[in-house]
Amino acid sequence: MCGIVGYIGEKDASQVLVKGLKRLEYRGYDSAGVALMNGKMMIEKGKGKVSNLEKKIDTKKLIAKIGIGHTRWATHGEPNDINSHPHVSESGNIAVVHNGIIENYNSLKKKLELRGRTFKSATDTEIIAQLLEEIYTTTKGITFEQAIQLTLKQIVGTYGIAVVSLDQQDKVYVARKGSPLLLGIGDNEMFIASDASPIVEYTNKVIYLDDGEMAVVTKDSYKVKTIEDVELTKEIHELEMGLEAIEKAGYPHFMLKEIFEQPRSIGDCMRGRINPEEGTIQLGGLRDVMDELVNAKRIVIAACGTSWHSALVGEYIFEYLARTPVEVEYASEFRYRDPLIGKGDVLLVISQSGETADTLAALREAKERGALVLGICNVVGSTISRETDAGVFTHAGPEIGVASTKAFTAQVVVLIMMAIKIAMEKGEITKKKAKKLIQELDSIPEKVDQILQECDEPIQKIAKMFTYAPNFLYLGRSYNFPVALEGALKLKEISYIHAEGYPAAEMKHGPIALIDEMMPVVVIAATKHTNDKTISNIEEVKARKGRILSVMNDDNKDVKELSEFSIQIPTTKDYFSPLLTVIPLQLLSYYIAVNRGCNVDQPRNLAKSVTVE
Ligand code: AGP
Repeated sequence: MCGIVGYIGEKDASQVLVKGLKRLEYRGYDSAGVALMNGKMMIEKGKGKVSNLEKKIDTKKLIAKIGIGHTRWATHGEPNDINSHPHVSESGNIAVVHNGIIENYNSLKKKLELRGRTFKSATDTEIIAQLLEEIYTTTKGITFEQAIQLTLKQIVGTYGIAVVSLDQQDKVYVARKGSPLLLGIGDNEMFIASDASPIVEYTNKVIYLDDGEMAVVTKDSYKVKTIEDVELTKEIHELEMGLEAIEKAGYPHFMLKEIFEQPRSIGDCMRGRINPEEGTIQLGGLRDVMDELVNAKRIVIAACGTSWHSALVGEYIFEYLARTPVEVEYASEFRYRDPLIGKGDVLLVISQSGETADTLAALREAKERGALVLGICNVVGSTISRETDAGVFTHAGPEIGVASTKAFTAQVVVLIMMAIKIAMEKGEITKKKAKKLIQELDSIPEKVDQILQECDEPIQKIAKMFTYAPNFLYLGRSYNFPVALEGALKLKEISYIHAEGYPAAEMKHGPIALIDEMMPVVVIAATKHTNDKTISNIEEVKARKGRILSVMNDDNKDVKELSEFSIQIPTTKDYFSPLLTVIPLQLLSYYIAVNRGCNVDQPRNLAKSVTVE
């Protein structure tokens, strides 16, 4: 997703902006640029990496104390120099960077062309700079701030913008509607960014803008108001994350660091919430809605991607332990099908970033229809976390790698804690059983650590065998069917190998036609209650010369004998097994992608947070 940074203060703005853009690279992008003001407007931008931009800035010695920067993930207009941001008005006096999509840019562009304005790029963003200049220069007595408000009122769509103008050389203007923006409050300096990572090394004091709000920022002040010109007093939040959380800490990639962080992140997710001695669970964020949850006739879960996979795990666990009917929806489908949801229903949205446009839209749709909307998010202060009625943070720490790993396991942990708590409240499980489950849950971080220590090497060897396989099949049953989907997604998104996840029993209904000696089949055999059936599926694959790579409990001798390669993991409750079985699949996809020379942390075409539809 696009990234925005802005700075105004006493430092060399170009250095602050370039460093900030590097911290946003993990979001995925194809071009980068800055606008700096020092008596004149200095624009440097182009297709390619931030490091290329940095070289150009250094060569040209662009020194200034105020500026804005952008990393672009193309939505309108191909990735090239002219379409990269910032975009400037015809006079060159106004520069704009933008995240989001302007849906009515064509009609606005035609109107301005009729008034003689010419456009350089194929982007929607350029319309903001041009329309702003048209309003500002043709409306008598208007202030620049008012011109921004009038411009934004004509925009249909979503935006997070930062604007600088030669007429206001001590100010940066920002506004948001559907695309996140924060202000970082420094000492005689101010920072602007689309997430906290460019800000955290300078200050931990931030203000989150909400939709329909704008701010006028100078180096020692900020004024927040609605675009209807209503002044607002915003709460100053303290960032939880530290700089070390967004550094690689010696790992070659953020993704590997985050895979190996899981014993800690799972522990952090449970800390202060489970009490193994007493056999209790406290989820403070749900305290006020516990009755609605316990009495819910059904729970609908909406999410995207990996978060949708954790939702599927949640469905199995909620229905087995709490006996509450659960429906899992792709957020992108839910929002457009006039969903049957309303008062008395519960919608639970799951999102690592808390900014996914489809998931946010599903939340708003359900809220409008009267449903109680809860959230499971990893980013404090994110839009989704602020718009839900209540929720639970996963506390996994910043997840920088585009491929989600520790967020998935943390989401599953939250779903397990919710299911146990609701099951206890409903009397579906005894306190004694709950205590045993909570004690087993408490042992998971250690079991994950054991897998990471014991399986890393063997998986590197297996990865070498399959680095150039053209396809993969992932099979799982019950709680591990969603893990089969997740394992396939991990491989797809970072190694670009086509991979499909299937319920193991589904093989007979078509996919078995794909099996031959060229097809690696990853079978997750860690669900005791379906183990015999899984063995039959493995035999069906072997009979057709498929190559079996199994993820299995260390005591599953039958599966081990049938597998060409087997990765052995500790045993746990069937419904906790996704927390363990996913780890080898994360490692397998990582090492195959590295062997293929892929950009593991920033895979092609992908963004860390999809804040556009
Ligand atoms: C998962 O590895 C991908 N990065 C992607 O599918 C992601 O899970 C999806 O875009 C949802 O993101 P969210 O959890 O931030 O809403």
